[in-house]
Amino acid sequence: MSERFTKAAARNIFYGGSVFFFVLFVALTVHSHVFIVNTSSNSDTLNANVARGKHVWEKNACINCHTLLGEGAYFAPELGNVWVRYGGRDDAKGARDTLIAWMQSQPSGVEGRRQMPDFKLNDQELNDLVDFLEWVSRIDTQGWPPNDAG
Ligand code: HEC
Repeated sequence: MSERFTKAAARNIFYGGSVFFFVLFVALTVHSHVFIVNTSSNSDTLNANVARGKHVWEKNACINCHTLLGEGAYFAPELGNVWVRYGGRDDAKGARDTLIAWMQSQPSGVEGRRQMPDFKLNDQELNDLVDFLEWVSRIDTQGWPPNDAG
């Protein structure tokens, strides 16, 4: 009886499988890239304020406690949708004022509640941060997070 599964066949499956999944990986990477650049990111509204806000975000390492679109630490609330949660879609000015007031009033000092430090940000930095958070909230995340809490 001839051997049906030969070494050569095993090798071909290995190489063929590797090539197939490598090509698939590249195709999915290209697809994600194109989706991010053309569909999910709102590049029209990407202005200098948003860029400065992202810088404030990075300089103060907000990500050490918060998640942004699911990435980051799980100590404090998800902020990718905070603009929407604060009613920004209906009342942009109200959401801005509330977010700034919130950040300025930290730490709350409420016992048993997790605390956020006072970063002593100036008006420009606070407004830029809100511009950044507003911009992030408009990223098309395809329905993620599934609930408000992120
Ligand atoms: C040391 C951890 C820590 C860091 C760093 C931190 N935060 Fe927070 N943040 C918190 C905690 C904890 C809360 C929730 C506090 C509460 O509910 O009383 C919070 C809440 C918030 C909220 C309100 C969220 C909501 O859902 O109501 C905003 C907005 C916010 N943080 C923005 C920022 C920004 C912007 C930065 C960076 C400049 C930052 N945070 C850095 C801990 C942190």
